Amino acid sequence: MRLDKFLSVTAVASRKESARAVRAGEVTINGTPARRADEPIDPENDRVVFRGVSVRYKAFDYLLLNKPEGYVSATEDGKSPTVLALLPERFAARGVFPCGRLDKNTTGLMLLTNNGELSHRLLAPRRHVPKRYRFTVKFPLSAADLAAIEAGLTLDDGYRTKPAAIELSDERNGVITLVEGKYHQIKRMMETLHNQITALERVSFGPLTLPADLPRGAWRELKDDEIAALFAAAEMDKQ
Ligand code: URA
Repeated sequence: MRLDKFLSVTAVASRKESARAVRAGEVTINGTPARRADEPIDPENDRVVFRGVSVRYKAFDYLLLNKPEGYVSATEDGKSPTVLALLPERFAARGVFPCGRLDKNTTGLMLLTNNGELSHRLLAPRRHVPKRYRFTVKFPLSAADLAAIEAGLTLDDGYRTKPAAIELSDERNGVITLVEGKYHQIKRMMETLHNQITALERVSFGPLTLPADLPRGAWRELKDDEIAALFAAAEMDKQ
């Protein structure tokens, strides 16, 4: 594989950036400065160091984004910006997509990956991977409302929701945990109770929690222990 392709598929640098770094002597192959950006390398065995950091060959990317309002959870949309617009372009080129959906005005934790099998398994209804959402509603929630949410309630289309845990911090704010993900589920649950969501933020997805130090709109790669926990939640062996 060409060195610049290797650096772009490992999401380290675009081809242009790679060429610049090679010219500046910032890339080494097995300890020797690379001469050309199109130099062939063996991705499995050669040791490539880019600006002092050793580059590992990665088959897949795993990113955690703190989604802001106004972005749609898709790879393409005719009208609105997608969450991919918040990432460097190289990730779209590597086929990264959002694992599951958040509404355009929902904020918080979003996993993005190009590992289709992992995503599929994490979203499979039978796996019941829990998702926690911090919410605000327009009107106070009563004890009867909480009991209905905990027992499961019937949405406008006749779907009966699975029991969901709910904890309030005051009568209009709290955290709800879903083990499923129907379209606009929390908004529709609150509408069933003649209430209305005014703010919704996802704070966890399976074993992942929204890092307190990750600003809205920012992203980072998952750490090895987070990736391992996701594979465990998906009941998958990590290759
Ligand atoms: N429930 C909703 O209503 N919206 C979301 O984005 C997620 C859960």
